[in-house]
Amino acid sequence: SGVITIDPGFKNTGSTTSAITFLDGEKGILRYRGYSIEDLAEKSNFLEVSFLLIYGHLPSKEEYTRFVESITKHTLVHEDVKKILEGFPSTAHPMGVLSSLVCAQTAFYPESLDPNRSSDEVDMSIIRLIAKMPTFAAWSYKNQIGQPVNYPDNKQNYASNFLKMMFANPAEQYEVDPVVANALDKLLILHADHEQNCSTATVRVVGSSHASMYASISAGINALWGPLHGGANQAVIEMLENIKQDGGDTKKWMAKAKDKNDPFRLMGFGHRVYKNFDPRAKIIKKAADDVLEKLGVKDPVLDIAKGLEEEALRDPYFVERKLYPNVDFYSGIIYRALGIPTDMFTVMFAMGRLPGWIAQWKEMRENKEPIGRPRQVYTGANERPYVGMSDR
Ligand code: CMC
Repeated sequence: SGVITIDPGFKNTGSTTSAITFLDGEKGILRYRGYSIEDLAEKSNFLEVSFLLIYGHLPSKEEYTRFVESITKHTLVHEDVKKILEGFPSTAHPMGVLSSLVCAQTAFYPESLDPNRSSDEVDMSIIRLIAKMPTFAAWSYKNQIGQPVNYPDNKQNYASNFLKMMFANPAEQYEVDPVVANALDKLLILHADHEQNCSTATVRVVGSSHASMYASISAGINALWGPLHGGANQAVIEMLENIKQDGGDTKKWMAKAKDKNDPFRLMGFGHRVYKNFDPRAKIIKKAADDVLEKLGVKDPVLDIAKGLEEEALRDPYFVERKLYPNVDFYSGIIYRALGIPTDMFTVMFAMGRLPGWIAQWKEMRENKEPIGRPRQVYTGANERPYVGMSDR
């Protein structure tokens, strides 16, 4: 009823109150449950941050131990998941495989379809999802490269278990490099939540129809896939590679990004809410330098990225529009140094964002939010009489 305000992209529309993540785009502040992202990235670990986001407080030692033990216990997936996986051609992008396998959990755990489950039952879905996500992610990659899958190794921590399932060739011993595992864990923390972004808003809207958590998060994975959202990390590396192959002419590519008749955008630049800097990008830029140095990797695209950033930061086009490097600008360079293939980058983002999606889904249900159903202003034809085909 009343006047409908149209706000494409919901640029000024709040959809909910939330107690999970605080973000100040002008000051470049990001906090999960009140704790700064800088502090968490330095001192915490991904599973502790997951607990914090989902349950609202830092876990006690007992809570943490129980949480990690339950997750470790549920890393194995139903053997029939392999049959689903085998149905995908090796050309399948891992993001499509990941969202399908997550949605398929509604079939293995049909009790998750009941919207009136107790909080203990919901907790079981939470544990299962966090536990199995690295398995689905690593298997989506194995399917692509045509290798047999590896089963989880529960002696490893969360990041190391994933790396082992990704990279171990079953015929050989595989030792996880702790530098690589720690860097990955830090990246997961930095991606863990970001209030009402496109994929999170999707998870909440899908869940608002009382669809299961698995189905809601599967939808979030699909929203994340697009190049304007999580898919930007893959697009950044592809862009940097193109610039490199083009002789490293950053000025030419900057001009393309500014040309309104050219659809090209500087990938990894700009953000809906950060208008000063993206605090995650700041941490990641430093981490990229550290990780490459520790691993002894020299990546020429890092220099191209730094050159582009420098040029953009003094270019009036980018300055006037307050466009700064976002989380995706440098993350791909780290993933590459860790040996993660390019089209797995957005899968890494999804693994990191999972606890945020879960926390937001849970909050939405606990707040008993109504079904998400925006309005519109109709601009189509007025009433017309149907005309039979022979008279058209
Ligand atoms: N390169 C060139 N011009 C840009 C860029 C860019 N990367 N980003 C924004 N602009 C221009 C845009 O053309 C517009 O110009 P004008 O006012 O002359 O029409 C102005 O800046 C405002 O941009 P917008 O598209 O209206 O802003 P938005 O809030 O709708 O979009 C964005 C935000 C992130 C989708 C956009 O900045 C973009 O497409 N960036 C590149 C993709 C990217 O890096 N995405 C990752 C975002 S952060 C992590 C995540 O969400 O996954």
